[in-house]
Amino acid sequence: MRFAHVSDLHLVAAESAAKVARPRAQFVAEAIAKDLAGIAESLDFVVVSGDLTDRAEPAAFMAFEDMFARIGLPLAVVPGNHDGPGEMRAYGASSEVFSNWDITNRVVEIGGVRFLGLDTCIQGAIEGAISHSGLELLEQEVARKTSSRLAVVMHHPPLVLGLAQFDSFCQLGERQRFLDIAANAEEQVIVISGHVHRPYFAQQGNIACFVAGSMAAPYDAALPFGDVPIRPMPLQDFYYVHHIDCAGRHVVTPQRVRALLEDSTTS
Ligand SMILES: [Fe+2]
Repeated sequence: MRFAHVSDLHLVAAESAAKVARPRAQFVAEAIAKDLAGIAESLDFVVVSGDLTDRAEPAAFMAFEDMFARIGLPLAVVPGNHDGPGEMRAYGASSEVFSNWDITNRVVEIGGVRFLGLDTCIQGAIEGAISHSGLELLEQEVARKTSSRLAVVMHHPPLVLGLAQFDSFCQLGERQRFLDIAANAEEQVIVISGHVHRPYFAQQGNIACFVAGSMAAPYDAALPFGDVPIRPMPLQDFYYVHHIDCAGRHVVTPQRVRALLEDSTTS
């Protein structure tokens, strides 16, 4: 099965667009959705790991729904810290399509992969926490005797980047408990995250953590970070495509969004 992973779109309502620091968000989200629609026949699923919106406005959730419904594929979303999460739940209550996409605290199985969505957000806070019920669900899925793979979708990554400036806003309550439970899994546990606006892959034991960047709000500091000589350059005009086959092979490749490439070379 193949699925695409996108994160941190930070959409705003049209009337707020001029007031926010991310004026390209609308254009970028539309470009991503169009690109996904273009390869939809090669995909089974699209995962968006939170921060669908910047200010949790109902009109921004509606804009997300309009754009991503046009892809014509099943979606799985979880909230990010910018989505409330109370406001996202409230929007879901008004939209059947959106509430079907929201996999918070439930499991959706598709093509031999069980996607478990966790809400890691604390209303009004940038840092996150995993709830008791989320940990119980994880425990249940880790113990389940099945041949399907487990993929946990959560906004805050449980494995941090190791660069102080990023890690400082990536605090996650019950992180260690999460890692301890996942370590009991017989097979590798896939984690799909966002939040830090920089793409990376991290592995610890049997946990493989894939973090998508943000095409709407990439980090673009040209200078090294503190005493760590790693430059967080943008390089964020792509989303990830994951391919997991029946032999268990898991290939992850970036898919460049053509409209963003053309935009960056002409402006
Ligand atoms: Fe974000």
